[in-house]
Amino acid sequence: MQKLEVFGANKLKGQINISGSKNASLPILAATLLSSKKVNLKNLPKVKDIETMINLLQSLGSKIRFKKKKLIINNSTQNKNFASYSLVKTMRAGILVLGPLLAKFGKAKVSLPGGCAIGTRPIDIHLKAFSKLGVKYNITQGYVHASTPKGLVGSKIRFPKISVGATENLIIAASLAKGTTILSNCAIEPEIKDLVNFLNKIGCKIKWVGKRKIKIDGVNQINETTYSVMFDRIEAGTYLVAAAATEGNLKIKNIIPKIIKTEIDTLRKIGTKIVVKKNEVNVIGKKIIKSINIKTAPYPGFPTDLQAQLMVLLCKANKKSLIKEDIFENRFMHVAELNRMGAQISINGNRAIIQGNINFAAAELMATDLRASVSLILAALIANGKSVINRIYHLDRGYENIEKKLKKIGARIRRIK
Ligand code: UD1
Repeated sequence: MQKLEVFGANKLKGQINISGSKNASLPILAATLLSSKKVNLKNLPKVKDIETMINLLQSLGSKIRFKKKKLIINNSTQNKNFASYSLVKTMRAGILVLGPLLAKFGKAKVSLPGGCAIGTRPIDIHLKAFSKLGVKYNITQGYVHASTPKGLVGSKIRFPKISVGATENLIIAASLAKGTTILSNCAIEPEIKDLVNFLNKIGCKIKWVGKRKIKIDGVNQINETTYSVMFDRIEAGTYLVAAAATEGNLKIKNIIPKIIKTEIDTLRKIGTKIVVKKNEVNVIGKKIIKSINIKTAPYPGFPTDLQAQLMVLLCKANKKSLIKEDIFENRFMHVAELNRMGAQISINGNRAIIQGNINFAAAELMATDLRASVSLILAALIANGKSVINRIYHLDRGYENIEKKLKKIGARIRRIK
C-alpha cells in the first residue's frame, strides 16, 4: 500500500494552480446521462473519484474518451440503468446517477452509496423528494429499486434539511420531468450553481427564484455542448491553510476569490495576511495565529470539507479555539492522529476544543478519510522531522497531483509505492 513521507518544517513559497472542482465535476458527469448528444467537459481534475464516476458511466453504456484535456462523452448508445455496488461503494456521489437514470428510463437500480466514513450519510432526503416527483421505490439487498409508473411529474418540494447531493439529484431529475418543479431549502454551494449553469447550457430551464429556491421547467430536448468546470474551492482552501500554517508566502491561482470569501475572512480574522486579486490570492502566513470559535455550515458558511485542515492551523493559535461540526456527526477522525503528533484536542459531542501553542512532532500516521488525510499532511509539513502517512488512497480520491504541487512550493514530500 502506498505511503507518503513528509519532512517538515519548510515554509511553502511560490505559486499554485488550482485544479477543476471534484464536487462540481461529479454531478455534472452524472447529469450528462440526461443527454443523447455529445458533451465535452473541460477542467475535470485527475483524481480517483472522477475516474470512478467515468467507470460508472461506462458501465451504464456511455462512450467516453479523452482528447487533449477534454473529456468527450457520447451517450447516444447509453442503455443500462443498473449501477453496481462495486462502483458506487467507494464514492457516495454514485447515488447521483439515480436522478438522471429515472428521468431517462423511468426505472433504475442503484446501489446504496459508500464514500468517506464520516457518519451514517443516509439518502432518505433524496428518496422522499423523488417520491414527490412520482417515483416508487424499495430498498432490498443494498440496492434502491426505483421506477416512475406515470413518468416524472413536476412538483413543489421543500427539503427538510439542506443537502448538497439531494439538491443536485432532484435538479437533474426534474429537468426532464413533465411540468414545473419548485425546490426550496436547497443547498446553494457554488458546485450546485455550476451544475445549473451546465444544465441550462444543454437546454434545461432552471432559474433561481429565491436564495434557496429553484424553479425547473421540464424540457424534452437536450443540446450538445462544451463546458468547463469551476475551480476546486476546497483544494484552494487547503492551500490557503497550508500557506498560513507554514508561515509561507503563496500565490493561489485560477480561482474566483469571492467564492471563497468565508475562508479568506476566517483566515484574516486569525491573523493571516491575504491580498485578493482578480483570479488569485496571495497568502502570507504570520507567526502569531489568533484563536477562534467557529462552526461548519452549508455554503456560504465555513465548509465542513476544510474543518480538519483549519484544526491543524488552530493548534498553533495563541489560545484555545473551538470548532463545532454541524454537518457530519462523525467527522473528527483526524483528531486522534493529530493528538499522536502532540496536539491537545478534546472532543465533546460535535465540538472540538483545540489547545493552542502546539509544536507538532513527526510521527507515523494513518489517514481515515479524504480531508482527514490532507490535514495530516499539513501537520506533517509543520512538524520537525519525518512523518509517514499510510492509507493515502483516500487522498487520491480528491487531490490532483498533491505531492507534485507541494514539492513545487518547497515541501519535502515523496510517495513510497
Ligand atoms: C457533499 C460533498 C461533500 C461535503 C458535503 C457537505 C460532493 C460529492 N460531496 O456531500 O464533500 O462534505 O456535501 O458540504 O459534493 N443527509 C441525510 N439524508 C440524506 C442526505 C444527507 O441525512 O438523504 C445528511 C448527511 O448525513 C449530512 C448532511 O445531511 O449530515 C449533509 O449531507 P449532504 O449535503 O447531502 O452531503 P453530500 O452531498 O453527501
